[in-house]
Amino acid sequence: MNLVVIGTQWGDEGKGKIVDLLSEYADYVVRYQGGHNAGHTIVIGEKTIVLHLIPTGLLQKGKKGVIGNGVVINPKALLEEIDTLNGQGISVEGRLFISASAHLIMPYHQKIDLESEKTKGLRKIGTTGRGIGPAYADKMSRTGIRVCDLYDQDLFREKLETNLCEINTILPKIYNLAPLDLEEIYQEFLGYAEKIKPYVLDTALLLNQAIDAGKQLLFEGAQGTHLDVDHGTYPYVTSSNSGAGGASTGTGVGPTRFDEVLGVTKAYTTRVGSGPFPTELTDEVGVFLRKQGNEFGATTGRPRRCGWFDALQVRHTVRINHMTALALTKLDVLDGIPQISICVGYEVDGKTLTEMPCSLRSLEQAKPVLKHFAGWEESTNGITSYDKLPQNAKRYVEAISELVGCRIDMISTSSKRGETIVNRIAFPT
Ligand code: IMO
Ligand code: MG
Repeated sequence: MNLVVIGTQWGDEGKGKIVDLLSEYADYVVRYQGGHNAGHTIVIGEKTIVLHLIPTGLLQKGKKGVIGNGVVINPKALLEEIDTLNGQGISVEGRLFISASAHLIMPYHQKIDLESEKTKGLRKIGTTGRGIGPAYADKMSRTGIRVCDLYDQDLFREKLETNLCEINTILPKIYNLAPLDLEEIYQEFLGYAEKIKPYVLDTALLLNQAIDAGKQLLFEGAQGTHLDVDHGTYPYVTSSNSGAGGASTGTGVGPTRFDEVLGVTKAYTTRVGSGPFPTELTDEVGVFLRKQGNEFGATTGRPRRCGWFDALQVRHTVRINHMTALALTKLDVLDGIPQISICVGYEVDGKTLTEMPCSLRSLEQAKPVLKHFAGWEESTNGITSYDKLPQNAKRYVEAISELVGCRIDMISTSSKRGETIVNRIAFPT
């Protein structure tokens, strides 16, 4: 049984908690795209752990974690995360595996990410500034440096030299920055190479052998489907395939080996960074959601934009990922709001759209057509049984399921591992 877990909105849906909970049933937890732009917050007892690059499943004893070929790796950030976990008494030695074909985020990628955002002015993407976009751009331009290249010192030096030849023309001329030093980066990365060596191998081989042996794999998506470079609100997206499709290309596990796709959905919507957001609330309800839901970026600390649940958005996600179930999170954040709304259409140029348009202009102009639901006074925080939910909360949850066309397997009512209503676990238990 192999399960892909994805975000259905613009990231920060609570994937960390759901993946952590499901990891108990998996042998391997696999990251397939993105990099340390992700921020997965997991609360275990009194401890809160935020992971960026390391698969969430490694927080559970004895589980194995894989960073697949589709991920872009900043080795410094990776080693720091390993150290932080060690400090918390969690060792990943012998349990973490890194694909030899994953691409590296180089120091110039981050510089270009930050500088090119500055030149975009109002059209800036609002990236996490981690060098993600430029690293994937180099991968596609076939100038990227892969993990395995570090172990062929001549090749690594040659590639770095060629790349710096171009970068060192751009940095001073376009961005008014000092050129980068070849020797410094070369030595720095040889140091990382040595340290990460024990983790590096052919992860596609490892994973396919694990599946052959009947092991259960959980593929952990970062970001959300509407940040997917192909299916999201382009250009306000990240630079990888955060949808379920990325799980195959990002790991070397063929499409017929995946059994289910679980989409994590927040009971309302948030977005960090720029880009269209038809149901955004700039009034006191938006402020309430941000405060109640602690909607501040786990990676950059930026306040998240908040708004109503958008059924067009999540229905699109259900379709393009052929999702088998939903995990609804943060339902308790809505406690006490007198009237809750769901977007069921977009008004654009006097017409009502019932499917999400591709055009950026239409998305930016879209006025949400809202369906209203009576809220509930009672606290749902920590509820673990569906029967105990207030009647109005049940109505709201059922409306979401119906409007997006997908069964709900889990409802999370707090950030704690155990505080979840579980209807069904995709893995055989
Ligand atoms: P998790 O995994 C929310 C957003 C950034 C920006 C856009 C591009 O925690 O859900 P990038 O640095 O990737 O080039 O930025 O994508 N973004 C996220 N938003 N959650 C994330 O990850 C995100 N990772 C990137 O804010 O709008
Ligand atoms: Mg996050």
